[in-house]
Amino acid sequence: MTNSFSELLAERQSCRAFLERTVDRPTIERILALAQHTASWCNVQPWQLVVTSGAATDRFRESMLRVAASSPAPNPDFPYPREYQGIYKARRRTCGFQLYDSVGIAHGDRQASARQALENYRLFGAPHVAIVTTPEALGVYGALDCGAYVSNFMLAANSLGVATIAQASLAAWPDVVRAYFGLPEERRIVCGISFGYEDHQHPANQYRTDRAALDDVVTWAQA
Ligand SMILES: Cc1cc2nc3c(=O)[nH]c(=O)nc-3n(C[C@H](O)[C@H](O)[C@H](O)COP(=O)(O)O)c2cc1C
Repeated sequence: MTNSFSELLAERQSCRAFLERTVDRPTIERILALAQHTASWCNVQPWQLVVTSGAATDRFRESMLRVAASSPAPNPDFPYPREYQGIYKARRRTCGFQLYDSVGIAHGDRQASARQALENYRLFGAPHVAIVTTPEALGVYGALDCGAYVSNFMLAANSLGVATIAQASLAAWPDVVRAYFGLPEERRIVCGISFGYEDHQHPANQYRTDRAALDDVVTWAQA
């Protein structure tokens, strides 16, 4: 258990290999209850979740793997980034290479990187996934509120020893996900969060991402 907020922020990392062990229902409910504290515009609390466990996770995993294997063009409700330019392109490359280096994928090995990308749809072996949705009418601000919720969910989980990874990849084919869970068209898919207990031995969990210095992100406006 980690209680200090600064420790939580420093310790949380995306988990890309989970143990099979499931998280018990009271712990999942505690995570959800903590994440409910998230602030939102006019307190509308737009997030809703489908949370899977056990066989329901396995069925969803198999279904998504089948879809991903046929490689349809992504058609997310919230468009993926149009282009990564400059420093964003560089950071994205670093992020990808860190993962590839950790799992032994040579740079430029497209087959192996495609195989690793498929891990997203295997939910990295997680026993649970939460699909996060927002109502269509709230537009980008609903999605923004959900982003804050996702962050709090991840930190709350971390505080209880539960590992997570946010996955925009699970928003690639929203019609498939809506149909699978019987969600109405007006529930827009923001992302998924796979969660469970971390496989601490797995190579994919052995590296840490870094962050830009304050000077790179802050402009101090002074009189
Ligand atoms: C909204 C969101 C969507 C993400 N989608 C994916 C994803 O589809 N697949 C993946 O491997 N990582 C995904 N990530 C994880 C990021 O790559 C990760 O947060 C980032 O590299 C920083 O690393 P850290 O989480 O270990 O601090 C996502 C993160 C966020 C916040």
